Amino acid sequence: MKFIFQYKTFDIKRYPPTTNKTLLPWSAADEMMISKVLSEEPSKKRILIINDRFGFHTTVLAEFKPETVVSRKSQEKGISKNLENNNISPVLIKNIPLGEIPEEKADIILIRVPKSLDLFKTYLSVGAKSCHENSQVLCGFMTRHFSKTMLEHADHYFESAEQTRAMKKARLLILKNAKGSAEKPEIYTTELALPDGTSVELAHKPGVFSAGKPDIATQFLLQNLKITESEQKILDVGCGNGIISRFAHHLKPDAEIHAVDDFLPAVESARANLGFENITVHYSDTISTFEKNYFDLIITNPPFHIEHVNTTDVAVHLFKEAAETLSESGRFLCVANRHLNYRTHLVKLFKSVNVLNENERFEIYECRHV
Ligand SMILES: C[S@@+](CC[C@H](N)C(=O)[O-])C[C@H]1O[C@@H](n2cnc3c(N)ncnc32)[C@H](O)[C@@H]1O
Repeated sequence: MKFIFQYKTFDIKRYPPTTNKTLLPWSAADEMMISKVLSEEPSKKRILIINDRFGFHTTVLAEFKPETVVSRKSQEKGISKNLENNNISPVLIKNIPLGEIPEEKADIILIRVPKSLDLFKTYLSVGAKSCHENSQVLCGFMTRHFSKTMLEHADHYFESAEQTRAMKKARLLILKNAKGSAEKPEIYTTELALPDGTSVELAHKPGVFSAGKPDIATQFLLQNLKITESEQKILDVGCGNGIISRFAHHLKPDAEIHAVDDFLPAVESARANLGFENITVHYSDTISTFEKNYFDLIITNPPFHIEHVNTTDVAVHLFKEAAETLSESGRFLCVANRHLNYRTHLVKLFKSVNVLNENERFEIYECRHV
């Protein structure tokens, strides 16, 4: 999609790509943030960008050599693909993994407000630590996503918080005077009940799926999970805090387990929760890097939204990769909301697609190549 600004044209795309033409790579809130930055003599400013999901801010502001905080593998790829498509050298941009604080303070910090307001708190904490006394933080959001909690979090980290007028149903929250006392973002815990009656506590960083308690679809999947003697190599796709891998390890302590997630705080949580030598946690948005036909059992509660938008694109892509990564005699298990109707996609990839169990809301698909 083309973005024309001050006589320059940028071609920006979403990553991963989508067939849904209503899903755009930026919003009116993103445009407002860019207009505000360009009104502030950006060539003389150090710019820090946080939560630039597809690379819109980073690409449009690349000539000002911004630093950009990345928290997803798919985001890193989206940013570099958009830079490449617009013939912008990647060396102009410095990527900073979420959790690290830039060495030098920034004059302008852009934060696209995420759906998870716990994650917003983490971003504000990074933003506040990157501020000097005259820095300003521009938080962009669509007015329909406004919540008072956003202001409470902003007040926690900044002395001054002002909202602009709405334009095209978007608004900016402009924050100044960072408070020095900004604390570390919290770690939550989630209790996982195990079949032998014991339970384990799982650490859970802000923004990681299913805050505070196991997701009900995941619980349904785990209640129905049995692992056979021959299922030795197991893959947990979209592992979140590692709950499925932890349960699988309990059922089969000698299995070789690989857990994969696209989201850095999820990977960090899973690594904290899965400290066993036969479990490896991978920071990745793809499973195509594994050997073909490697796994005996692949398990997933697949992702179904990107920020505020529900989409099956990512899940369907991961199903294709799972079909290639599964061994000839292997099983692919997937829990999903019934209305998503994943069966139509799964039957194209697997010879047999059965429903292992179902309830009013969820189905567990059991798929095989034989
Ligand atoms: C529905 S959550 C399930 C999390 C966890 N397995 C559970 O049951 O609580 C889906 C997870 O997939 C991750 N994810 C999204 N896109 C991904 C991708 N392309 N590759 C791997 N993981 C992805 C998300 O970050 C999220 O943690």
